[in-house]
Amino acid sequence: MQGKYFINTYGCQMNVHESEKLAGILRSRGYTEAESLETADIVVFNTCCIRETAEQRVLGNLGIVKKLLETKPGLKVAVCGCMAQKPGAEKALKKRCPFINIIFGTHNLHKFGEYLDQLNQKKYIGEIWEKEEGIAEDIPVYRTSGVNAWVNIMYGCNNFCSYCIVPYVRGRERSRNADKICDDVKRLLDEGYKEITLLGQNVNSYGNDLGGEINFARLLERLSGFDYKYRIRFMTSHPKDLSEDVVKVIAASDKLADYVHLPVQAGSDRILKLMNRKYTQKDYLEKIDMIRKYIPHVGLSSDVMVGFPTETEEDFLETVNVVKRVWYNNLFTFIYSRRSGTPADKMEQVDISVKKDRIKRLIALQFDIGNREAKNCVGKTYEVLCDEWKDGKAKGKSSCEKAISFRSENDVKGQFVQVKITGTKNNQLKGELVY
Ligand code: SAH
Ligand code: SF4
Ligand code: F3S
Repeated sequence: MQGKYFINTYGCQMNVHESEKLAGILRSRGYTEAESLETADIVVFNTCCIRETAEQRVLGNLGIVKKLLETKPGLKVAVCGCMAQKPGAEKALKKRCPFINIIFGTHNLHKFGEYLDQLNQKKYIGEIWEKEEGIAEDIPVYRTSGVNAWVNIMYGCNNFCSYCIVPYVRGRERSRNADKICDDVKRLLDEGYKEITLLGQNVNSYGNDLGGEINFARLLERLSGFDYKYRIRFMTSHPKDLSEDVVKVIAASDKLADYVHLPVQAGSDRILKLMNRKYTQKDYLEKIDMIRKYIPHVGLSSDVMVGFPTETEEDFLETVNVVKRVWYNNLFTFIYSRRSGTPADKMEQVDISVKKDRIKRLIALQFDIGNREAKNCVGKTYEVLCDEWKDGKAKGKSSCEKAISFRSENDVKGQFVQVKITGTKNNQLKGELVY
């Protein structure tokens, strides 16, 4: 018996899933999950560095651990993930927080078990691999995501958007073998999972590094052929790479969710060029029209950034224009954050008060769209996969990713049910079961 672990996860779904792998490794060595940080014997920080705020949260929580060590001197601390992978980060973290016992990066996560084993003899283990080395398969996974299971289809990113740190901390694109992915999905469906979310920074370039033997559309076709009732989702799509072929495959299959997360980032062509996104507003809106042509009821969402270097009011209004034109289900809005080592960090920066004003206006716009869209749903019936049930209160999502709450006498968690929308509260949908 090794004691109890507590994992702090920051950042995207990729990290959420990687924390399931960290938990799997810990459990394979006899650790069990602690209910809280205070009762843990080892605490793991799986970090993110996409924005400065993400890093500040990690550092703030490491400060809490430092305090805790005064009363719990035996507590072990491990830090990994994207923030640890940044050049020079290991040294800087160890200097700032000398109490850390293990630091490792994104490319050597699979070595975590070995580092744990070394903890008996060593006070500190710090190992960052500068480069990715293929793909480590067969890491044990301890899943915590309920009816949904995450499956990596690829790692890394080749796009180098000028604001983004991900390509520097996640390495180049590597696609997993399609047979391995299919085996994983089949096994998870056998185990009873009802929803599979495929993960990659840019899933549409899946297979590009596999010598033309397979692409994302063919992978989706294979993954939608199992003889179960289930849903497949994926994230994230880069607008430049989302093909008509992929959209047709989604339209043709009832297993593939009618939902596309297609981050636009900005509406102004000048800003999109500076961002190195490789599409114009017109290209983007044509993609949206193409998706809607094949999947009329598609749910769409996006990531949008305000305050990118040199962004003017006119540029910002182009973003507003796209948001109004597309009418997203859901919008993830961000204030541009400087990341050292990226090209945008060296460009002329926008004042923080201007950024705050723009994000406020964008959030208000989307709130209004969300409210109106919610009202449009009243009276419609959706097939909902219930992912939460307690004391008669249930929640779930439609294929087009609308979150719906409803009442059910029976525990319907993990089941597909028909729900008719009866009312709204702001952009929340409430419904009742249809038998
Ligand atoms: N691979 C995904 C996104 C990964 S990061 C894609 O390309 O869509 C998630 C989101 O964080 C991005 O879509 C972007 O909107 C935002 N983001 C990335 N870098 C940022 C930065 N420096 N400042 C603010 N937001 C950023
Ligand atoms: Fe970052 Fe762009 Fe890659 Fe997405 S596609 S991870 S935003 S560099
Ligand atoms: Fe994800 Fe953050 Fe890394 S968004 S890929 S955890 S920098």
